[in-house]
Amino acid sequence: MKKSPQAIFSNELSDNAGPSTDGAPMSTERAGTSDDRKRKVTTARLSEMKARGEKIAMLTAYDYSFARLVDESGIDAVLVGDSASNVIHGHETTVPITLDQMIDHASAVVRGVKRALVVVDMPFGSYQGDSKLALQSAVRIMKESGAHCVKMEGGEFIVESIKRILSAGIPVMGHLGLTPQSIYKFGTYVVRATSEDEAEQLMRDAQLLQDSGCFALVLEKIPSQLATRVANQLAIPCIGIGAGPGVDGQVLVTHDMLGINQEFSPRFLRHYAKLHDVMNGAFRQYIKDVKSGGFPNKDESY
Ligand code: KIV
Repeated sequence: MKKSPQAIFSNELSDNAGPSTDGAPMSTERAGTSDDRKRKVTTARLSEMKARGEKIAMLTAYDYSFARLVDESGIDAVLVGDSASNVIHGHETTVPITLDQMIDHASAVVRGVKRALVVVDMPFGSYQGDSKLALQSAVRIMKESGAHCVKMEGGEFIVESIKRILSAGIPVMGHLGLTPQSIYKFGTYVVRATSEDEAEQLMRDAQLLQDSGCFALVLEKIPSQLATRVANQLAIPCIGIGAGPGVDGQVLVTHDMLGINQEFSPRFLRHYAKLHDVMNGAFRQYIKDVKSGGFPNKDESY
């Protein structure tokens, strides 16, 4: 399988890297050993995972506590998604979240993660149409948060920005299909690339992003068959959300898969817990205990 320039670069980087913070060498052990679970995940490791057919698991986190939890569970990559705009800040779209807010979320996440690759979304307005601004924004994210790489939405229109960011040594993950930052252009969150023309455009964009040096792609809400075609055509990992099982990995918004937001239930989402009910029950019980004087009891007092 042909390697992307970015993946080759990252491999060389990790092969010469020093020990990770938990003392495990970053790249010298063979995959699949128990030490492998301690090794830091790099962009090169994601590429190795694709090469050996191991699926990549990615989840979002926006704060220290969730980041620790998902990292301790053995997740490969943590995405500080601009979905924070929706699930943390309560906005209807991802458009309002700012670069400062994303850096704040990313810094907290980085403090909670020991092993996973931390990917940070570049927010709307921080890179589109201006490659110098794009580089400045990406540099701020890397310097101020300590994250490992950035993610950007779009195809041919952002290639100049991607190349400028890569020239500074910052790895870039692409994002095609449903690109929520362009919601006002499309007006709806329905499945993308269902027509032949759109599907061909997406194939071209995916190839272009790989050729430009992206180390991986997110494919959001596109037909399974098309996503599988993209993943088979590209050497870089393609991580899907609503893109079926034929891609190289999956990503979900953690709050959604935990069932914290009951209202959001698209077809692609699987609920792994019903935390809304669990948390609601706990809060109600606490209120009852406080009101009745049952909390705190003697043992809970000094
Ligand atoms: O912002 C986000 O959480 C994302 C995922 C949906 C891929 O971009």
